[in-house]
Amino acid sequence: MRSFTFQNPTKLIFGKDKISSLAHEIDKNKKIMITFGGGSVKKNGVYDQVKQALQGFSTVEFWGIEPNPSIETLRKAITLGKAENIDFLLAVGGGSVLDGTKLIASAIPSQYDGWDLVIGKHPIEKILPFATVLTLPATGSEMNAGAVISKHETQEKFAFTATHPQFSILDPTVTFSLPPYQIACGIADTFVHVIEQYLTKTNESPLMDRWAEGILQTLIEIAPKIKADTHDYDTMSTFMLSATMALNGFVAMGVTQDWCTHMIGHELTALHGIAHGETLAIVLPGTMTVLKEQKAGKIRQLGERVFNIKQADPQDAITQTIAQTETFFRSLGLKTRLSEHGIGQDTINEIEKRFTARNVCFGENQNVNGALTRKILEQVL
Ligand code: NZQ
Ligand code: ZN
Repeated sequence: MRSFTFQNPTKLIFGKDKISSLAHEIDKNKKIMITFGGGSVKKNGVYDQVKQALQGFSTVEFWGIEPNPSIETLRKAITLGKAENIDFLLAVGGGSVLDGTKLIASAIPSQYDGWDLVIGKHPIEKILPFATVLTLPATGSEMNAGAVISKHETQEKFAFTATHPQFSILDPTVTFSLPPYQIACGIADTFVHVIEQYLTKTNESPLMDRWAEGILQTLIEIAPKIKADTHDYDTMSTFMLSATMALNGFVAMGVTQDWCTHMIGHELTALHGIAHGETLAIVLPGTMTVLKEQKAGKIRQLGERVFNIKQADPQDAITQTIAQTETFFRSLGLKTRLSEHGIGQDTINEIEKRFTARNVCFGENQNVNGALTRKILEQVL
């Protein structure tokens, strides 16, 4: 097992009608900016619940944080937050609203442009406290310190580290209004978060392995149930908690990680606007195929323990595990090939060029560079 430090300070408040607890979680003396996406919360009643809970609080609203939040939109919120002397933020929405809010909270106290904080040109010196009301299980942003921000001007998308939310409210009933496509993307995203912290080296931690496999098995078990009924409280609760547990640091303790599938996926979103979860469904089977030698032990373990593949021949077992992974994504209703999105060699050339210029070295062996990324993407054309 590798050495590690673990700390996760986010208070999770989970269950039906829990949005009302906002009233006693936030200090009444704070000036709060509440951030939202495009309006789903007005249709499903979440907005009314938040407003009801925060009666008597001093609040300013910022609307319009779009999927894959852009610096162009967030700059407007940062300007508003500075003008209004905001000292607490409440993000109400999916991962995009949460991530955007992490940047707003980092940039209001800063003299620098928000994008400079994302790319690390200037350090984040102070972050305003913030909390979340999550409406879409997927990213884990409700209980982690990360955020991913896009820049439309240059078609770029980068992750940065802010800090954890003070608390997050997860009411599974708010997921009942999610469109099936967003649910599919959320399940795929959760699945791949676990995979990127699992599918590397064997025998680092049997405990982490089994926690990871537990989440993967749970997702495979609930996916058809959710497809059949998106309003079952217990199934949606399990989905919501799985997504949080997949990326809040709990399955990462002492094990090697490989985030190359995410890094390649971010480029597909930046260049073509494909939803995050679907980019992962495309890239992961390519990553597994191209890196099948270095990941052989873990792919076999995944096959055996998660997909119940009992093939004696190691190569057959690996091939079948990769095929089952793709089949799982397709069973969610997601596309798994670049050509299905009309994407071809031009995009592969561009991503190789970008990764080579950035000198990237992703993967547990630091060998996923521009050239290897080309191979991964050509595998899933
Ligand atoms: O904008 P509104 O109107 O709210 O609609 C949203 C949006 O159109 C809608 N939606 C959300 N909750 C809903 C709902 N519609 C009906 N009912 C509800 N309850 O869903 C659409 C997509 O929302 P978005 O927030 O973009 O989705 P997601 O949560 O998948 O977030 C994706 C972003 O998170 C980043 C991704 O890169 C992407 O930018 N990620 C963040 C991570 C993190 N912070 O740790 C890790 C992830 O790997 C990921 O990269
Ligand atoms: Zn993700």
